[in-house]
Amino acid sequence: MSEILKLNIEKVFDFVSKDTIYQYKDEIQKHISALYNKTGIGNNFLGWLNLPSTINEKEIKEIEKTAEFLKDRIEILIVIGIGGSYLGAKAVIEALSHNFKCLQPPYNRKNPIILFAGQNMSEDYLYELIEVIEDKSYAIIVISKSGTTIEPAIAFRLLKKHLEEKYSKTKAKERIIAITDRKEGALRQLAAQEGYKTFVIPDDVGGRYSVLTPVGLLPVAAAGFNIRELLAGARQIETLTGTKTEFEKNPSAIYAAARDALYQKGKKIEILVSYTPKLHYLAEWWKQLFGESEGKENKGIFPVSVNFTTDLHSLGQYIQEGERNIFETVISVKEPKHKLTIPYDDNNPDKLNYIAGKRINEVNKTAELGTMLAHIDGGVPNIHIEIPKLNEFYLGQLIYFFEKACAISGYISGINPFDQPGVEAYKKYMYALLKRKG
Ligand code: PA5
Repeated sequence: MSEILKLNIEKVFDFVSKDTIYQYKDEIQKHISALYNKTGIGNNFLGWLNLPSTINEKEIKEIEKTAEFLKDRIEILIVIGIGGSYLGAKAVIEALSHNFKCLQPPYNRKNPIILFAGQNMSEDYLYELIEVIEDKSYAIIVISKSGTTIEPAIAFRLLKKHLEEKYSKTKAKERIIAITDRKEGALRQLAAQEGYKTFVIPDDVGGRYSVLTPVGLLPVAAAGFNIRELLAGARQIETLTGTKTEFEKNPSAIYAAARDALYQKGKKIEILVSYTPKLHYLAEWWKQLFGESEGKENKGIFPVSVNFTTDLHSLGQYIQEGERNIFETVISVKEPKHKLTIPYDDNNPDKLNYIAGKRINEVNKTAELGTMLAHIDGGVPNIHIEIPKLNEFYLGQLIYFFEKACAISGYISGINPFDQPGVEAYKKYMYALLKRKG
């Protein structure tokens, strides 16, 4: 039987009392009702709320069919997109992939290697990408809701040209899939003109809430992962965090309450911690979700992330003894996929024999516990989220858990958690400097 992610906020009670956190109960129930009744701010962007339970079989099959079509033909899939049109797919694929996937020999690899582009404007990145795909069979998924975002637009223009020169204009079309707005935008127009296969980003789903639409699902399926399981996990948390669930049993509600209670006590920075490098990009996705949703009107917790134990040897010092305006949220994976024990050495030059025979995971988990105790001693409250293992199902749970918590958090702060007006500021200056017309 499947389990539910475990949220534990006991280690914040030394900093804010349980009563303080549970006093959010009525307010949060109102916010959840506002989300479902579409009476709150930003209510035209609530399509993500029911995505796991409403996505239809026809769409899932179409995504799977397209993924199979790609997998049969290519060695490399380039996914072009930025922000919400990139981070969800990257997070899930990295979390589920072999740590050294690029070095696995092709005969040992069933699925294409997924490479990303359009998430930066580095000339060297794009040049070197073209260098490595030169003699490879590849295809492109280009993702942009607006179709005008400059980073993916540049990458697509470049790679489209490369693809057309490599395979001919007609054949290149079979290797390009566009995921974009239903009707509007430059990419929709181009796709219609060129006859690309397309998938739709629903009108009422913003970029950072779009991982459970084709934006995330198609790249994840093409990478060989099970999108039905991802959706099933998300569906479980969708049900658990709905209007019918009491506050005490709703992990997203409790997490949102604990975060705000800590914020009100001066804990303005939240550090998302993981003990496996595979979760690095889930943290990047989480940073966008919370940063872009909450950082408004001169308010909001600043989301950052670390990979432990790696960063205990760099940022660990600051976390232990620096300014006391931080709290941690740890994502803990109970069981790794593989087993490896520490070998015994007759000479014991490194004095490690006291842990010989133990699994590496046991030592990693001990570091996790020790770090939590030390950080609490040092004045850093700790929220703990545990999943049994790193698979599609539990990633789906985490994704929906955080999305719901983020929406509730935004409503607690009284801001619109579904827009991003501040993102436009740099673009205005950049376009003016580039002398773009209009
Ligand atoms: O969350 C968001 O809305 C943004 O991060 C967008 O996804 C990002 O800016 C890319 O936009 P677009 O999909 O229109 O290219």
